This record gives sequence, C-alpha cells and structure tokens, in this order.
Amino acid sequence: MQILDGKIVSQAVKDVVKEKTFLLKSTGKKTPHLAAILVGSDGASETYVASKVKSCEEIGYTSTLIRLEPNIAESVLIEAIEKLNADDDVDGILVQLPLPKQISEEKIINLIHPDKDVDGFHPMSAGKMVQGLPTFLPATPYGIIMMLEHYKVETKGKHAVVIGRSNIVGRPISILLNRNSYPGNCTVTVCHSHTPNLKEICLQADIIVAALGRPGFLTADMVKENAVVVDVGITRVADASKKSGFAIKGDVDYVNVAPKCSFITPVPGGVGLMTIAALMMNTYNACVAKNK
Ligand code: GUN
Repeated sequence: MQILDGKIVSQAVKDVVKEKTFLLKSTGKKTPHLAAILVGSDGASETYVASKVKSCEEIGYTSTLIRLEPNIAESVLIEAIEKLNADDDVDGILVQLPLPKQISEEKIINLIHPDKDVDGFHPMSAGKMVQGLPTFLPATPYGIIMMLEHYKVETKGKHAVVIGRSNIVGRPISILLNRNSYPGNCTVTVCHSHTPNLKEICLQADIIVAALGRPGFLTADMVKENAVVVDVGITRVADASKKSGFAIKGDVDYVNVAPKCSFITPVPGGVGLMTIAALMMNTYNACVAKNK
C-alpha cells in the first residue's frame, strides 16, 4: 500500500509555481494577485481561506482578503465582486463557499469574470472542461488529477466509481477521469444518495473517489483488493481529546480500508492540501493569460 501524500505533492506543485512566479517577477512582469472573499466566520471556511492566503505569501503572490458580515444583503457581495472584476491588478477571484442562505451561490458564481474564475466554478469554465478545452479546472478535482499523475497511478481502462455528484468535486472529477488523456480514460460510474446498490458498484471499482461528506462512510467491505482510494471528505467531528475540540475526518474508514488498497489518500494530509496547490496553479495561469 502506497500513501498518496498530499504534503509532498502539494509542496512540489507549490515549489514549481514559486519558481515560475520568481521568473515572472524577475523579468518585470506582473505579480499574480488572488482576491478571496469570506462571508461570515464559519470555522472550516476561516481555516481554508487562511491556508489559501498563507500559500499566496509563501509563493510570492499578492493577496487580498475581503471579509464580509454573515448577514449582509446579496447586493453587498455583488458590489464587492464587480469591483474585483474591474480591478486590473486582480488576476483571480475566489468566493469561499458555502454562502449564507440569503445569498444565491449560483448568482454569485455567474458574476465572477470567467478570466478570473480560478475556482473553475463559472458555467463557462465548467462547459469548457466538459468539452476538453483549456480552462480553469476546479481546484479539488485538478488537485486529485495532479496527485494521480505524480504517483503515476494507472487509470487507462480502469473502472472509477465516484461517490457524490456536486459541482465542486463529484461531477467534475467524473468528467476528468473519463477524458481521453492521462490521467483519464476510465470508465466512470457516478453514485449518489439515490443509488440503491452502492456496495456492489464500489466492489467493482479499481478507483474510488469518495466525495459525499459523510465521515467513515466507505468501509472495507465496499472496497476490492488493490483498489485506489481517494478520500475527499473533510468533516469536523467533535473530539474532546483535541485542543481544538474537533478532529478532521474523511469519508473513508482509513484504518480498515488502507490495508486493502494499492494507493490511498490520508485525511488530513491528502486531497485538501492539493486543492490549495491547484488554486495557486490556476492563479498563476490566470495572471499569465491576462497580462500577455
Ligand atoms: N468550499 C469548499 N470547497 C471549496 C473550493 O474549492 N472553493 C471555494 N471557493 N469554496 C469551497
């Protein structure tokens, strides 16, 4: 069993982006600038946004963090995005999800200029991805792809089972694994909350991507020997033994599943770190494309 180590791969990706950014700057080109908007103070979202800002600093990007109160009207967020769309210095815009109930995520995602859509959530980016055209790939699926590539995990002709069909992870990773490229060329089954025979389908999988957000959901009896397991879950579970009062749990019962796997991602230290590295790569690409 080989661990797909998000610490190692995300650092390798960030090192490449850092070097490319250094070269950009030393040739007098513009410094990439990522603007992040955080609405409210959800603990997990706070942590993610802080990690994204910290990575910008490590790499040498400019970053702007805009914090808005949880009870703001939708129009306040719209105005903030329009300002960032119009700001030539800003290369990438990220609105941390989820948003409070009074704000339509769909409307907000649609408003971000596609050239600055480093999360890859805009319908223009999603449409291009479906057609295999160059675009910003959503950060978590892109991070998973980079991880499979780093460890040279064989994907061609494999049966990949994706559990979850969200626009952020499940649906896009199912499309990427199905593309005619490497990593890709999988036969993909997308399962969801209405799939009746999930266990039988998972037992046929060479690759399982668990992206449903239910801690410990994928158990050893659902996984065949030598499967590749990618755990996208990051759920905070109360744990009095931790200083923070919670532990981070993945969607996979790691202790019992890992011995059966050829490759597996741990949580924490797996896909979560790759999401940030992928976002940094997208921001670099946005800056270079925009300032040609
Ligand atoms: N919430 C959970 N994952 C993500 C992500 O990749 N980007 C943003 N903006 N919000 C998220």
